[in-house]
This record gives sequence, structure tokens and C-alpha cells, in this order.
Amino acid sequence: MGAPVLNGSDRSLEELVDSWDGEATVMRRARSTDALITIGVHSTALGPAAGGCRMRTYRSSAAAVEDAHRLATAMTSKLAVCGLPFGGGKAVLAVPSIPEGDARRDLLLELGELVESLGGLYITAPDMNTSDVDMDVVAERTSHVFCRTAESGGCGNPAPATAAGVEAGLRAAIAHVFGSDDLDGRRVLVQGVGAVGERLARRLTDDGADVVVCDIDEQRADHLARRIGVRAIPAAAWLDEECDVFAPCAAGGILDEGTIPRLRCRLVAGAANNQLRERADADRLAARGITWVPDYVLNSGGVLKGVGMELLHWPPEEVANRLQQVGEDVASLLRRADTEGQTPLAVAETLASDRIDAARATRV
Ligand code: PHE
Repeated sequence: MGAPVLNGSDRSLEELVDSWDGEATVMRRARSTDALITIGVHSTALGPAAGGCRMRTYRSSAAAVEDAHRLATAMTSKLAVCGLPFGGGKAVLAVPSIPEGDARRDLLLELGELVESLGGLYITAPDMNTSDVDMDVVAERTSHVFCRTAESGGCGNPAPATAAGVEAGLRAAIAHVFGSDDLDGRRVLVQGVGAVGERLARRLTDDGADVVVCDIDEQRADHLARRIGVRAIPAAAWLDEECDVFAPCAAGGILDEGTIPRLRCRLVAGAANNQLRERADADRLAARGITWVPDYVLNSGGVLKGVGMELLHWPPEEVANRLQQVGEDVASLLRRADTEGQTPLAVAETLASDRIDAARATRV
């Protein structure tokens, strides 16, 4: 229970490995627990591949590898758009159920060993269902890890920074679409109230938005709704809820041929990685007059904090500035999309590929 449904394709492992444009697919069956550890290294063109470690259930090993690939690919774009000297990668821990206690610890140690064996090609971090406390365990086996707890010398949980960046970008997008960034009374549906979604829902509520929440774990959504005085709806009802903004903050693949015609909002902007099932979904959204903010532009706050604090030694004010800057980045991206008659996705892709091409060109 608790894991969102993954809308993976039914492609075979062989097809996935053969067709991916990434640099490496690493797989290891865990010794200690019934789990598959897989790491996708998409690109090291700008630097070592950085990206979080996702722990969840999948319906097959192929689905886990496909998710690692797709998430790693998005990290390459995210880091390029933020202008950070890193490539993209991701680790997926595919488990039959979320382990706790010793089983969890053993699995994280094995991840640490695998990351260490890659000699710095890939640097891990928290993602869905993993935290700074987990990264302390990973760090017992490797130094290639972001976001350990503050007590262990890391920057701590990246989720508050991700939520702050998402809010800055969301406000900019609201101003673009509705003409004012005033959140008062604006209805925002937050799908998924995990580490980032919960914080986003709280921030938006504090700022006067009319927040509605849902989660595949309905109890979790109900509890949060009661605590912060907002409305919770059943997970399956998300497409029926009329709102100004839909903010996906759970698993990816929720925007597709089936769901886009049914959306009842003018703006989609949220923290979830890989919201589109396929590229053409960006055109489908545009055709319906719905503005979609590319996820990897909006959700870079965690990376900015992790990389900024731990490797670039940014002081807290610089981190805060960079999180606010997500708003300016989103505003200029949406303006450019309008001026050029392109989708926001096409503009973001151009930004990312320009940076990667420039880095390749200056390499001797
Ligand atoms: N989960 C983060 C993301 O998807 C990954 C991350 C956080 C990577 C912090 C590096 C540092 O962007």
C-alpha cells in the first residue's frame, strides 16, 4: 500500500537498455533484502551524474529500470537548466514493500557500496521515500552522497528547499497566466502530500490560497487537511476537481492522452518529476490552452540547496536567492514560449541542450 501506480510501458528490459540514450545502466540484486538496486547514469557531459535515490514498489524489474532511466534523463535537463556543473543520474530501489529497521539499513548500505564502486560517476541524494537520515547510512559506504543530516555535516532534508522553489515558480506562473501573483482565493489542487507536497500545501495555505489535497494514501491527505484546515478529496477524484492550478507532487506519468482532455484547470505546475507520459503531451496541453511548467525547471530547489551548500559552499542567503530565482526563470521561460510560439517544454529543452552543447564545445 501507499505506492502510487506507475504508468510504465510494457517494454522488456532488453529493449529499455538498448534504446536508452544514457551512458550506463547499473543493476544489482540486493543480497540482504528482496530488492533490485538500479542506477541510471544519463549524462556526465557537464560533470558527475547527480540525482536522488527513489524507493518504491514497481510491478516489474523492467518498470523499475524504465523509471531510473526516465528520472536520470530529467536530472540531466534539471542540472543543465540550473547552470550547475553536474550531469544527470538516478538510483531506484525497487522493493516489495518499504523496508524499515535493519532491512532498510542493509539495503542503503548496499546502495552505498554500489555508488562507491562507480568511483564518483554518480552522486546520490534523497528522493521519494528516502531522507537525509537514510543518506547518513549510505555515507557509511561512500562519500558520493548529497544531503546527509546537518549533524553529519550535510545540508539536511532537501524537501523544504524544493517546496520553496516550487512556490516561487508557481507564483510566477500564476502571474503569467492570471495577471497577478496574488494567491488569495486561488484554488490549487496539490496531488501527493509527501515530503514536498505537504510543505507546498502548507505554504500556499499560509499565503491565502484555497488549497485542496489528495494522496494515494487517503488517510495522510485527510490528516493534513484537518491539521491545516483545507479540503481533502479522494485520490481517484483528482480529475473531477475544478481548480485554477493543478500541482502534481506525487509520481510521474499522470499527464497523458487520457487525462489531459479531462483537466479542469488553466495551469499545471508542481514538484513531481516526469509529469508527462510522453513529449507529445506538452502539445496536447498547449492545444487545450493549459499552461504547463516543465517539472525540471520548477523542482530544482532541492538540487540547488544540496549542490549549492555542499559543493559550491554557498552561504544561506545565496541559497535563498537561488530559490527565489526559480520564479524569475519560470517567468522568462513562459514569456519566451509565448513570444516564440513554442511550448514551455520546447524552450526548456533548448535551454538545457544549449548548455550541454556549450560545455562539450569548450572541452579540450
Ligand atoms: N530528489 C531530488 C530531485 O529530484 C534529487 C536531489 C536533491 C539531487 C538534492 C541532488 C541534491 O531533484
